[in-house]
Amino acid sequence: MKSVNVRIDKIFEPASAVTATDIAALRPEIEQGNALLHSGEGKGNDFLGWVNLPSSITPAQLDEIQEAANVLRNEADLIIAIGIGGSYLGAKAVLEALSGSFDSLATPKKGVNPRVLFAGQNISEDYTWELMEATKNYDIAAIVISKSGTTTEPAIAFRIIRDEIERRYGKEHAARRIVAVTDESKGALRKLADTEGYRTFVIPDNVGGRFSVLTPVGLLPLAVAGVDVRGLVAGAAEMEKLTAEASFDENPAMQYAAARTALYRAGKKIEILASYEPKLQNIGEWWKQLYGESEGKEGKGIFPASVTLTADLHSMGQYIQQGERTMFETVIRVAEPAHTFRIEADKENLDGLNFLAGKRIGEVNGMAILGTMLAHVDGGVPNIVVELPRIDARTIGALLYMFEKACGISGYALGVNPFDQPGVEAYKKNMFALLGKPGYEAEGETLRKRL
Ligand code: PA5
Repeated sequence: MKSVNVRIDKIFEPASAVTATDIAALRPEIEQGNALLHSGEGKGNDFLGWVNLPSSITPAQLDEIQEAANVLRNEADLIIAIGIGGSYLGAKAVLEALSGSFDSLATPKKGVNPRVLFAGQNISEDYTWELMEATKNYDIAAIVISKSGTTTEPAIAFRIIRDEIERRYGKEHAARRIVAVTDESKGALRKLADTEGYRTFVIPDNVGGRFSVLTPVGLLPLAVAGVDVRGLVAGAAEMEKLTAEASFDENPAMQYAAARTALYRAGKKIEILASYEPKLQNIGEWWKQLYGESEGKEGKGIFPASVTLTADLHSMGQYIQQGERTMFETVIRVAEPAHTFRIEADKENLDGLNFLAGKRIGEVNGMAILGTMLAHVDGGVPNIVVELPRIDARTIGALLYMFEKACGISGYALGVNPFDQPGVEAYKKNMFALLGKPGYEAEGETLRKRL
């Protein structure tokens, strides 16, 4: 089985959705979108560094990341990765996908099983207090990640965590416990890192935040957590080659982009990414940023949502089955669980479950997937299926790249620049004005009158 297989046959049902002819008609547009990503002649072409990124990562670069990770792993039980949006979600998603669901029950220990925690992805006072409280009996280190180097949420978290590291270990030793991932020359974080002598990694200029998981933004925290970053990059590189070379019918990124574009044009405005593995929940969060920020502009774009099933069938299932018929679903289906667990026969059979005796839990999950897919399709929710043979570093790397490539292609089909995010600034301006940041006095005055 391929590392990622995209099946679109279930978008042709019910009859009201799209047809194979619609998909065939989209072929030239989708192929052109893919070609533009490679030629660099499309919108946002100064942010295409991710297209050939996986294959261009050298063993020496990976060694350097691993070496820096090992220093942090040996210094600290808890390493706090500070970042938000594209400087957070990729590492969080991959770490969760490739970790044991209950790894957090083990006591973290430097050099053995240090743990990565996340901060700077919110401005919650309680989260901050609880984080500092939870880390106080452990040795700590930090990776601060910000491409712009000026984002408020991680900057606040870093100030607090840096103070704590300096208080505990002294200013000089703090530099050994802090690594910054930021722009090569611009931004407050670059200045601070250079002044304090922190080790740094560079986020390439031509790779936007939401496409940066395979740069040190994602790779460093993942290496610290013990993730097989080489496998991750190798899987992405295989997908890079496949999506660059394969024909339309054999190209998972083109198939996915074509299917969702056709569905959007047929009136399906919401895409729900569904998975049946709880450890893929944060892949959904990463995917939402990727598609939401890339497509949601100029009054256009599919609204990306995500669910984890079967859990959410007992909360969102009703709406998906019978609510407004404006949605389609993209189902991530994992063929083979990593572990085996069978349901035993029970002599009494008081729970009436003996019809499942001898079956693996995965078989039951498999039937839940098929049953749900057919129910949703019958209810008017077309399904795209993304099949993975298993969850491992290679397949997750391939999945991330497939989604990135399809996102670029879809954005071009939508007619937007998929690589900018001008709308993200609006809240920041208001927040600065309300907080009295110098330079925002007039806006602050106007806003306060409206409160
Ligand atoms: O995709 C994006 O560009 C954004 O979500 C950014 O990743 C996010 O705002 C964090 O930015 P920065 O890395 O500059 O702190």
